[in-house]
Amino acid sequence: MTRLKCVKVCFRHAIVLLFLLSVAFIFKLSLSPQTCFDKQVDLDRVKQAQMHASRVLKEECHPYFAKKVMNRLFNKKYSTNLSPFIRQTTVANSSLSKYTPPFGFHKYLSELQDILVLMPKYDLPEELKSKQCKRCVVIGNGGILHGLQLGHILNQYDVAIRLNNAPVHGFSRDVGNKTTIRMAYPESATLSNLDYHHTDLFVAVLFKSVDFSWLQAILKNESLPLWIQLFFWKQVADKIPLNSKQFRILNPLIIKETAFDLLGYPEPRRKWWDWDKNVPTLGIMALILATHLCDEVSLAGFGYNLGQPDARLHYFDNQCMTEMQKQYMHDVAEETKFLKKLVRGGAVKDLTGGIHCEFCKDVNS
Ligand SMILES: *[C@@H]1O[C@H](CO)[C@@H](O)[C@H](O)[C@H]1NC(C)=O
Ligand SMILES: *[C@@H]1O[C@H](CO)[C@@H](O)[C@H](O)[C@H]1NC(C)=O
Ligand SMILES: *[C@@H]1O[C@H](CO)[C@@H](O)[C@H](O)[C@H]1NC(C)=O
Repeated sequence: MTRLKCVKVCFRHAIVLLFLLSVAFIFKLSLSPQTCFDKQVDLDRVKQAQMHASRVLKEECHPYFAKKVMNRLFNKKYSTNLSPFIRQTTVANSSLSKYTPPFGFHKYLSELQDILVLMPKYDLPEELKSKQCKRCVVIGNGGILHGLQLGHILNQYDVAIRLNNAPVHGFSRDVGNKTTIRMAYPESATLSNLDYHHTDLFVAVLFKSVDFSWLQAILKNESLPLWIQLFFWKQVADKIPLNSKQFRILNPLIIKETAFDLLGYPEPRRKWWDWDKNVPTLGIMALILATHLCDEVSLAGFGYNLGQPDARLHYFDNQCMTEMQKQYMHDVAEETKFLKKLVRGGAVKDLTGGIHCEFCKDVNS
């Protein structure tokens, strides 16, 4: 190429690049989130929510209750004997290699073996496991938790499950400070050491190839090669301040059951240009995990009130409900319908009333 030609071509490229950059900039501006600031929480609602939650805890705990109701609601589609976490003996189960992650471990069994040798435990801690009747609460990240001051009640559950990077530090009045299980994938694991307590179980949800590499690096206390870090869509934690005895891997058959059997989502198909909306949110996975893990299950901080665009999306930041409309990975309407079925059917109790409110005066939400 002659020098002149190059100058021309390069100039054209520069113009195109400049154009693309400005489009990206305008696009980013239009996406920058609106903020939703504090609104006074109705004191009556605070009192009613607290009374409702205390009442739920005062009732006698019934062994196998959640499983029985799930079985009644979903019949054979709900399996009553799925182990919550992966252990070396379950790896041989052929159902695990039927699907690729997150619904199975097809093509990843050897990566999985390499990780499992680094994980000495695969169950709940003994003192919990041996408990006759366990109560789980799944604490979602919903703004509906904000101001309800349910923390001291949530702390009384045997098992408290938290999701992703949900902060505890600074929010314990509303969300408690007990964490039995924190469920996350690499990008969603919190970068803040303050939100881990040495007794937490870190339950990893593995979606893609590099997630296995990440978990292995965390367990070995090694840093991830730079080129692997490029495959994550945001910065991932390079340390989780927990002992390797505290790590578990969510059984992908629970994700498979949640998606295909209970929600009725389509099984994966080969599509290159689009996703099937067939991956449930972590919140729903956690709830189904809880039914397998515990005898009774409650949820708090669930429900997106899309009809109230200026409501808080999360209990811990100023994002508005409208942000929820910008996500394409999950089928929020379908999940809400599913949650209503679980709450109305009695399989789980909704402590904050965002799905189906049993304590609200206008019982129509
Ligand atoms: C394998 O998984 C299936 C489906 O969850 C389960 O029904 C079966 O009991 C498992 N088999 C073994 C040997 O663990
Ligand atoms: C939770 O807070 C209480 C009271 O401040 C404290 O005694 C307890 O140690 C905390 N628990 C955890 C797991 O941080
Ligand atoms: C992990 O590695 C760092 C150095 O990168 C070291 O300071 C730390 O003690 C190690 N932690 C464990 C638990 O081995």
